[in-house]
Amino acid sequence: MPLFDTWPIILDVALVFLAVALLLRLGPKYLASRSLILPPGPKGLPWVGNLRMLHQAQQRKWEVYAQWSKRWGRLTYLTSLGWRILIVNSKETAIELLERRGAIYCDRPSLYVVRLVELHNMIGLNDYDHGLRTSRQMVAQFIGSTAALKPLHSAFESESSRFLVMLLESPDDFADHVRTLLGRTILPFLYGYHPKMEGEDPVIRCAKRGMEAFDHVTDFGLFPVDVVPLLRYIPHWLPGGRWKHLIRPYKTALDEMGAVPFGFVKEQVLEGKAEPSFVSRNLECFGPRPTFEQEHHLKWTAAGVWAGKTDKLMSAAYQTPAVMSNFFLVMMLYPEAQAKAQAEIDRVVGHERLPMMEDRPNLPYVEALIKELLRFYPPVPLAFPHISRQDDIYDGYLIPKSTMVIVNVWDIMRNSQYYSDPFTFNPERFIATSDREAEQDPAKFVFGFGRRICPGRRFADAIAFICIAKVLSVFNTAKPLDANGNPIEPAVDHEDGTVSHPRPFKCCFKPRSERAAVLASDSIAHD
Ligand code: HEM
Repeated sequence: MPLFDTWPIILDVALVFLAVALLLRLGPKYLASRSLILPPGPKGLPWVGNLRMLHQAQQRKWEVYAQWSKRWGRLTYLTSLGWRILIVNSKETAIELLERRGAIYCDRPSLYVVRLVELHNMIGLNDYDHGLRTSRQMVAQFIGSTAALKPLHSAFESESSRFLVMLLESPDDFADHVRTLLGRTILPFLYGYHPKMEGEDPVIRCAKRGMEAFDHVTDFGLFPVDVVPLLRYIPHWLPGGRWKHLIRPYKTALDEMGAVPFGFVKEQVLEGKAEPSFVSRNLECFGPRPTFEQEHHLKWTAAGVWAGKTDKLMSAAYQTPAVMSNFFLVMMLYPEAQAKAQAEIDRVVGHERLPMMEDRPNLPYVEALIKELLRFYPPVPLAFPHISRQDDIYDGYLIPKSTMVIVNVWDIMRNSQYYSDPFTFNPERFIATSDREAEQDPAKFVFGFGRRICPGRRFADAIAFICIAKVLSVFNTAKPLDANGNPIEPAVDHEDGTVSHPRPFKCCFKPRSERAAVLASDSIAHD
């Protein structure tokens, strides 16, 4: 038989083999996934799903989700306008899904408008791809280990001293000082840029505009096109297409937020007077002719690290000011914890100098107090959402591709399975004694999970330690008094954003002694 006559037979046989191989490989998984059920959760309406229920849970969502978990268990599955949402209330499940199966649960939710303004380039909002890995490696080289952070210690020391002086001069503005402190630490680190404290600073102005745009484009529901894709195709001059006019100025503002401080460093590098910084060092590594891609990554990585909320000064990562505000709240509410920490500092550091980074290993109670602060008020109570890349099977349930996984960190931190008497503020739980082990360090959870774990956690931890130790050494933080000299009880309540700050409260700071106040003032005189 001529060879060309046998080709169709060979091809047929090959196709049959291929089909059988595919069936054997994918068939069982496919069949299994079709016969599986979704995790438990409330029944929703067609398409809108559980929109109403989620909308009603806007205030302190983490507490509402914790209530739901009592009914649905450690997994609560919901849908809303085409989104699939899985709320996880158990640490074992969070670790299994986001860490052990991290390759599946490593993307971020993607909004159409965010992509349109190219904000998905920003570290924190982008999917886990080559670009994000590069960005995370860049950040890790500078602040990813205790050794890498060491060169920043002197900046932490001097900015924390400046913070003390600001508290001495205008204690009522403590919330502003907290944000200023972080802005003043992060901008020199990233760009070698020192913002003007008086008048309007050009970089801060750009950042404010950029962050206003950021707040809008990431506000799910503000642009109906995020939920009704058909609107993408409506021309801008028709009623349903008007949103397109809004997008242009947002994009300009966001581009400038990335480009202006970046341009500042490039200019300084060209003029040979750049201060060593995250951006300048990376530019040096790229060599004389960086590619567009290299610069692009660097620009958006830096912008992503300092992007915070629109305010007086930008914050490093908006989470850190929340830690400091929670610290002041807790010191007012639990004066006995404050007194113990101060006694430890007096014993170890004495009264002739302020605490330093090197004192940390000798201050176990202060260390435990910071852990308890993070446990009691986790700054990001629902972590950041992760998105699954493919169908997955967990505990007999199907978790479909593109499910948004939200870990209720707050609930884990308040779970009596993991922490004894979890609603009591008790730093001692983190100090091992002869008859009991220390409880689990909350840092394992409050900084997120797996491939997206917070790359700034050591930076945040270092700056929080030095500020807290110095404040404890210099000030007594107490409830303010009313006209009759009675203490005013603070209303303990937290804002509902991704990062949860305590709602504004009043606080009274008194130097512990004249000597302490002089030490604080002198510490910046010697800078
Ligand atoms: C106490 C302070 C902080 C807390 C509690 C915190 C917490 C978090 C959490 C929960 C995430 C999401 C992790 C996940 O998706 O699983 C995150 C991401 C991130 N954090 Fe922090 N953070 C803090 C401070 C900082 C600081 C100081 C920086 C920068 C110097 C920083 C930079 C980032 C970045 C760039 C991401 C995005 C990472 C990614 O998407 O891959 N954070 N943080």
